[in-house]
Amino acid sequence: MTILVTGGAGYIGSHMVRRLLADGYEVVALDNLSTGHRWAVPEECLEVGDLQDRDALSTLFQRYRFSAVVHFAASSLVGESEERPLEYHENNVGGTLNLLRACLELGTTRLIFSSSAAVYGAPSESPIPESVAPAPINPYGVSKMVCERMLADVSVGTSLRFVSLRYFNAAGADPKGRLGECHEPETHLIPRLLQVVSGRSAGFTLYGDDYPTPDGTCIRDYIHVEDLVEAHVIALAHLEAGGESRTFNCGYGRGYSVREVIEVARAVTGHPLPVDVGPRRPGDPSQLVADGSALRETLGWRPRYESLETIVRDAWRWESRLQGMTQSR
Ligand code: UFG
Repeated sequence: MTILVTGGAGYIGSHMVRRLLADGYEVVALDNLSTGHRWAVPEECLEVGDLQDRDALSTLFQRYRFSAVVHFAASSLVGESEERPLEYHENNVGGTLNLLRACLELGTTRLIFSSSAAVYGAPSESPIPESVAPAPINPYGVSKMVCERMLADVSVGTSLRFVSLRYFNAAGADPKGRLGECHEPETHLIPRLLQVVSGRSAGFTLYGDDYPTPDGTCIRDYIHVEDLVEAHVIALAHLEAGGESRTFNCGYGRGYSVREVIEVARAVTGHPLPVDVGPRRPGDPSQLVADGSALRETLGWRPRYESLETIVRDAWRWESRLQGMTQSR
């Protein structure tokens, strides 16, 4: 039972690789290391390569005959996708297309896909159930929507079955402090705040406080990376048991505003965290909160790290470690 984890050296992918190994699977982590890190996965699992390279992909599939694929590899920043839309389509849509070809050619029939709340765009409903029609408002969201459609098309008339997981805002780190988020540059809210506390970043700008929300700042549903990994594990078990293709939201159903997150970061770190209010960031919807009940009810998802304080605390432990690694260089 060898599982291919694309993007396995990235933030969420590396937590998944660690979990699958702990659960006794053989794992190949395929990563082009454009945003992933060699240190994030055991050396013997890592295959450095790119989904754009169809021949290399075919060779890899021939060598391992994967029983399943967990597909994380993608570009994933809303703002960057506004600046470089074609790169997003090439990397996300093109990469998924090549991966699906390899699956079909070499008989891999189970796939877990990293989709995103960005497929919903800026829906009026909150929390958002999966029945809301996708209407993305940025190229990143469009690329994920196209991949979802491609999966649905391919699964008709072939034996491929998939689970698409629409992530809300992945955050936090391994509770034991062994892994965490490390982007260059970092753009995500929680690590950005913690970099200011650790001194790795000079200041924090809040992107807009004139949104139609109670305190004027954007609301997001932050989900602990370990609970997200658990969703993949149960999705895989669902497919292994012969379950049908499905799409699920991954979020807790509880939203926090940017200002609320700042308050939690202040409480966890004891730092005053000064904030500059700047203009809105293009492509940011005001509110994204999941209706996550389908995942709980259908697959029995039981999140363990739902408190925002736990998420920030785990991310802070990791940031302190990263700061130490930077200093010792
Ligand atoms: N924010 C700031 N200042 C910063 C960074 C972020 O004010 O320095 C704000 C953003 O404007 C937004 C909120 O904090 O309102 C969260 O921003 P993030 O960059 O942490 O996350 P996003 O909501 O933009 O996007 C993330 C992932 C996407 C995914 C989306 C789903 O990066 O891939 O969650 O909800 F699609």
